Amino acid sequence: MTDRPPATWPPTPRGYFAIGAERMSKSLNLGNLMRSAHGFGASFTSTVGATYRALEAFADTSKSQLHLPHYNWPTLDDMALPNGCKLVGIELVDRAVDLPSFRHPLRAAYVLGPEQGSLSDEMLARCEHVVRIPTKFCINVAMAGAIVMYDRVRTLARFPDRPVGESAPQQAASRKNRG
Ligand SMILES: C[S@@+](CC[C@H](N)C(=O)[O-])C[C@H]1O[C@@H](n2cnc3c(N)ncnc32)[C@H](O)[C@@H]1O
Repeated sequence: MTDRPPATWPPTPRGYFAIGAERMSKSLNLGNLMRSAHGFGASFTSTVGATYRALEAFADTSKSQLHLPHYNWPTLDDMALPNGCKLVGIELVDRAVDLPSFRHPLRAAYVLGPEQGSLSDEMLARCEHVVRIPTKFCINVAMAGAIVMYDRVRTLARFPDRPVGESAPQQAASRKNRG
């Protein structure tokens, strides 16, 4: 007898999401972001203006491309999102909504800025929403992506409520809410 979770775990939220980054230059960050995207259930990943080096090494080191489509758009004008999919920037800017107060769109494409810099003004202008993670300063780009994906799953998927006191929820309640 093992404690392995049932096949329906983790719970899948309604809708879909994608995640990508602008002008990415480090393959390790790209690989890290794509692996998390795959794990959190993204439908596709993307880059806009990524350097050749980032893409080349990412192709060698990350297996996520075997499971998820990846779009490599050379410029912003090449970016093509599905109809109804809302572009959500992830950036520490004044207009941004604090992530804990943000309601994620059911159909969303999240976009992060480059390792050395921020989302371009042109990209920000295309974003329907911008969110910021409550940190004192910029954190690693792949880490920022993972936090936003976690927040999406945490708020849109059906998990049992947290108990008021320090403990785990009742197993019966967990089972009831699964699937
Ligand atoms: C390492 S940061 C870029 C460096 C940063 N602009 C600087 O020079 O201080 C890379 C990207 O991670 C994302 N990011 C990092 N911390 C963030 C936060 N607290 N809130 C929202 N986005 C964040 C943004 O997309 C940002 O463009």
